[in-house]
Amino acid sequence: MNDRLVAAGRLDDDAQYEQGLRPRSLDDYIGQDRLRANLEVSIAAARGRREALDHVLLYGPPGLGKTTLAYVIGNEMGVPVRATAGPVIEKPGDLAAMLTNLQEHEVLFIDEIHRMSPSIEEILYPAMEDYELDIVIGQGPSARSVKVPLQRFTLIGATTRAGLLTAPLRARFGIVHRLDFYTEGDITEIVTRSARILDVPVDAGAASELARRSRGTPRIANRLLRRVRDFAQVRADGRISLEVARAALEMLEVDERGFDEVDRTLLRTIIEKFGGGPVGVNSLAAAIHEERDAIEDMYEPFLIQAGFLDRTPRGRVATARAYEYFGLTAPGRDTKLW
Ligand code: ADE
Repeated sequence: MNDRLVAAGRLDDDAQYEQGLRPRSLDDYIGQDRLRANLEVSIAAARGRREALDHVLLYGPPGLGKTTLAYVIGNEMGVPVRATAGPVIEKPGDLAAMLTNLQEHEVLFIDEIHRMSPSIEEILYPAMEDYELDIVIGQGPSARSVKVPLQRFTLIGATTRAGLLTAPLRARFGIVHRLDFYTEGDITEIVTRSARILDVPVDAGAASELARRSRGTPRIANRLLRRVRDFAQVRADGRISLEVARAALEMLEVDERGFDEVDRTLLRTIIEKFGGGPVGVNSLAAAIHEERDAIEDMYEPFLIQAGFLDRTPRGRVATARAYEYFGLTAPGRDTKLW
């Protein structure tokens, strides 16, 4: 299930392509207009004062460009980005080593920052606030604390949901931004830009069609573009026309909404097994053999934004639109009268 074509998470062969397609400057970055405008000001101000940029927290569903933005920020600040991820930092010493190696104004990017262990997270507090490490030497009564000064650096943290962060960690970020799903127009622009970089001709109608089926997610758009490019090369003359795009997407089983089998199973399960909901996320996860976190972070956000699913205090509910999608009628007030 994790290698589904419209998964927002990173697949193995995305990484190398993303390298080439990633915008490197704010000017090249399409969409997220408000976030971009705010960052532009923060960056220009920090540069003007010759200071490190405030610590930045980026949150939002996977595939929307959190990592890309971290590198764009580094580039705009004119400093290198050192990257790591919450789950790969095993010992406090690993993080301490990274922090002491940072040069002035450099960026430390921590992806999945909500997945750090508490003992490691605590190292970040004085590092972020006072640019120093509190190191405890020795054990028991003879233990003492030593402060190690750090260069003024910028921490950029990324997480799928800001609510997953502990309050003390969240409070130490001066700049906090949520990334939203992109509009169809933005994704169309991104597809057009990527096609140019990949040197594949794509008609305007085809770019829109790809955008419509990409769930507002650039990573998915770029992935579909690669698959459709293959189809165009083998089954057509290499050009991605609207007909070619439609035929390729049909073969790939990505429907007009960008839904795939996992989305359909999720919605159908709520409707058929749970009477349309509300159903608790744990019961839903068990019923479709997925992990709760995967449902909450990867599958749900787009279904909610597209109006197919509601998240209520009592659980998940399939909307009337979800019923219509399957050609069913939602149980409305009329039926409840009986
Ligand atoms: N490629 C992936 N995301 C992009 C974005 N936001 N702007 C431009 N190109 C992209």
